[in-house]
Amino acid sequence: MKIIKAKDYDDMSKIAAQIIGAQITLKPDCVLGLATGSTPIGTYSMLADWCSKGYLDFASVTTFNLDEYLGLDPQHDQSYRHYMNSNLFNKINIKIENTNVPNGKAVDVDKECMAYENKIEGLDGITLQLLGIGNNGHIGFNEPDDSFSKSTHCVRLADNTIEANARFFDSIDMVPKKAITMGIGTIMKAKKAILIANGEGKREILKKSLFGPITPRVPASILQLHPDLTVITDNSL
Ligand code: PGA
Repeated sequence: MKIIKAKDYDDMSKIAAQIIGAQITLKPDCVLGLATGSTPIGTYSMLADWCSKGYLDFASVTTFNLDEYLGLDPQHDQSYRHYMNSNLFNKINIKIENTNVPNGKAVDVDKECMAYENKIEGLDGITLQLLGIGNNGHIGFNEPDDSFSKSTHCVRLADNTIEANARFFDSIDMVPKKAITMGIGTIMKAKKAILIANGEGKREILKKSLFGPITPRVPASILQLHPDLTVITDNSL
């Protein structure tokens, strides 16, 4: 594990964007795993800026997002498809058909999960996975549990995740209770992973995840076993 101490949010975002940009330059047809939430917004904005200046070319890149709320239409302004289109995809030269976000309106959710996992495997897995971390240690929507999940599946969101995400909705009752998420196994199979986390609020959970016992009660703790993990944070750990 490599830990990079960033000066602040902008510095963290720039370092993450540089690593992703270098990956695209080295392997233009790479497969990126992408995250949502407030943490990656600065990273996406830098990637979009570099693409608009002609420094980066996303024409051959494929992306897979970690998760999506179940029941939200892709057009819903809080769906992760909408987030990705507005924060990144609409600002870069990626082919929209090469961007993958689980379908939150799938009629057969199990089939959707299996198809998502198979599509990732069919492309020889994820080259570089970008991750945020939840206050409870979740990665993707893999909430604290009794065991680590293997592949893409449907989850019930933890109460503290619903509370944390209520800030994006008109009321807490509007936050979906379920989601589709890549599994811990899917994430761990990514060839490289970058974890970004900023602000004092993430310090304790980062410390617990990176230096505490490896347990499904702290899902991100499994990342200690990832062979190529880079953590970028403005926190002193
Ligand atoms: P945040 O969410 O970036 O909005 O803090 C991170 C997460 O829940 O994974």
